[in-house]
Amino acid sequence: MKAALLGTGSWATSFGRHLCHKWERVVLWGIDPGQVESINKTGTNPDYLGDIALPPNMRASLDLDDVLRDAEIVFVIVPSQVVREVMGQVVASPSFAKGAPVVNMAKGFEVSTLKRISEVIGDELTKANIQDEHPIGVLLGPSHAEEVAMEQPTAVVLSGCPGGDWAHWQKWITGPFFRVYTNDDMAGVEIASGFKNIIALAVGMADGLGTGDNTRGTLMTRGMFELARLGKALGGRQETFFGLAGIGDMITTCISQHSRNRNFGEAVTNGTKTPQEILAGTIQVVEGVHMTQAALKLSEKLDVELPITKQVHDVLFSGKPPRQAMRELMERSLRDEFDG
Ligand SMILES: NC(=O)c1ccc[n+]([C@@H]2O[C@H](COP(=O)([O-])OP(=O)(O)OC[C@H]3O[C@@H](n4cnc5c(N)ncnc54)[C@H](O)[C@@H]3O)[C@@H](O)[C@H]2O)c1
Repeated sequence: MKAALLGTGSWATSFGRHLCHKWERVVLWGIDPGQVESINKTGTNPDYLGDIALPPNMRASLDLDDVLRDAEIVFVIVPSQVVREVMGQVVASPSFAKGAPVVNMAKGFEVSTLKRISEVIGDELTKANIQDEHPIGVLLGPSHAEEVAMEQPTAVVLSGCPGGDWAHWQKWITGPFFRVYTNDDMAGVEIASGFKNIIALAVGMADGLGTGDNTRGTLMTRGMFELARLGKALGGRQETFFGLAGIGDMITTCISQHSRNRNFGEAVTNGTKTPQEILAGTIQVVEGVHMTQAALKLSEKLDVELPITKQVHDVLFSGKPPRQAMRELMERSLRDEFDG
């Protein structure tokens, strides 16, 4: 059994390490020669996972054809905004085996089209006229790469389009420390995971302002409520927002020391650098920043109010001081809890 993983970042490396317990061969595709060489020569990926040892049945390659050859399944683990470009290369590869499912693990939407990442993958398969040959799925949920690499018990959700044998893949992806649930609401799973990072940014900003647990709890609850409202308008099921990909991932992201989005929000309140300057100084993707733009455009299109998202967006892109954003949220007109 061979699995192809697109990406050599934190999540691809950590998830690949996990798969190696069960899979004979796990091959990562990277674009950074230094990372590829390090994985192959020293069995580590110091750019992302320090000195955590990688197993001998994991290797990396710069050659996409080599990575895809004989792979029974393909996992997409690159930033959401580059998935289209990466999938364009996958569908053009003569090694892309007919029947191999494509599973998205990137969290987000494509900002330019406002599409879910599974839809972006679908577009590229359709362009190559092979849409019926490759079931599309998503594997998402509360799963910090650092903790999965340390074999901390973790649970995620696998959701796929009809025609895929997802119960089969559920068994092949599950391991002693990594439990996979299925959920047939692919839209809901993707929307919830895609947008929870916005709320993590808000919690980070609140933490940076020195607020306490009341504020954190309020932002998480009201945040999930507004995301569920958007998710329903986009065709997701409300219950999915209260499952692993929704509230589960949101809690993990909002309370975690590993969360880039929470930490980024906190750094913004520091005031010494603009959000754009902070972004320019990190090699790791901070998905929530792009997602505030996508969510806001969708909210305008669908006429769904997203008060927390709007304030986070204004802090990131319009220079609004975080303290003013917090005050404006507190001064919204009074209403019933479930009225909006
Ligand atoms: N890190 C986590 O704990 C975690 C957990 C679950 C989901 N995710 C999601 O997985 C996705 C990847 O996250 P990550 O943490 O591994 O990011 P990362 O920044 O650690 O790594 C990104 C990888 O994508 C590659 N890449 C960037 N641009 C590319 C391009 N144009 N073509 C090909 N490859 C390119 C980089 O070389 C790198 O290997 C994100 O959507 C993230 O939200 C991350």
